[in-house]
Amino acid sequence: MAAEISAAHTDGVVLVAVLKGSVPFMADMVRSMTVVPVIDFMAISAYAADTGRVRIVKDLDLDIMGRDVVLVEDIVDTGLTLHYLLAELGRRQPRSLEACTLLDRTSRRIIPTPVEYRGFEIGDEYVLGYGLDYAQRYRNLDRVVVGDLTVLRDDPDAYVASLHPR
Ligand code: IMP
Repeated sequence: MAAEISAAHTDGVVLVAVLKGSVPFMADMVRSMTVVPVIDFMAISAYAADTGRVRIVKDLDLDIMGRDVVLVEDIVDTGLTLHYLLAELGRRQPRSLEACTLLDRTSRRIIPTPVEYRGFEIGDEYVLGYGLDYAQRYRNLDRVVVGDLTVLRDDPDAYVASLHPR
């Protein structure tokens, strides 16, 4: 994806990582890019469960008007987050606006959202590690692992240790 984004944006690009899950992915990706990206961060928070309504809790520092922008996500699930962010950033009149995600679970999509750069398609299984959390923890695992939510709820530390022995 770093090569693809670099090839598509030879004039440079603004990468916007969506906090917090996409941080390890973004960090690895920028180190493989052949153009010099500018990076920025955004954080949103859901304020009503399952309504898809979210609010910005950390906004960009940069003005993206007239810039080529790629949003960097860890995982796109229902698409509600990405849909909201693309609409929000689109209003700021970037020259182009694309989305990149490490993981895509298209089977659960509620809102169709364009994803130009996709790492891996996954099924309906919970994933954690490499930025992805379970209850804000385990983002530090050095790879993505599949976890059974019923077992995770029980004794997360023991279960994660068994999934990801160090
Ligand atoms: P969406 O708005 O439903 O597309 O959800 C996207 C967000 O939900 C991601 O950025 C993650 O923070 C979170 N998420 C969705 N599925 C998982 C998962 O399997 N593990 C960890 N986080 C997830």
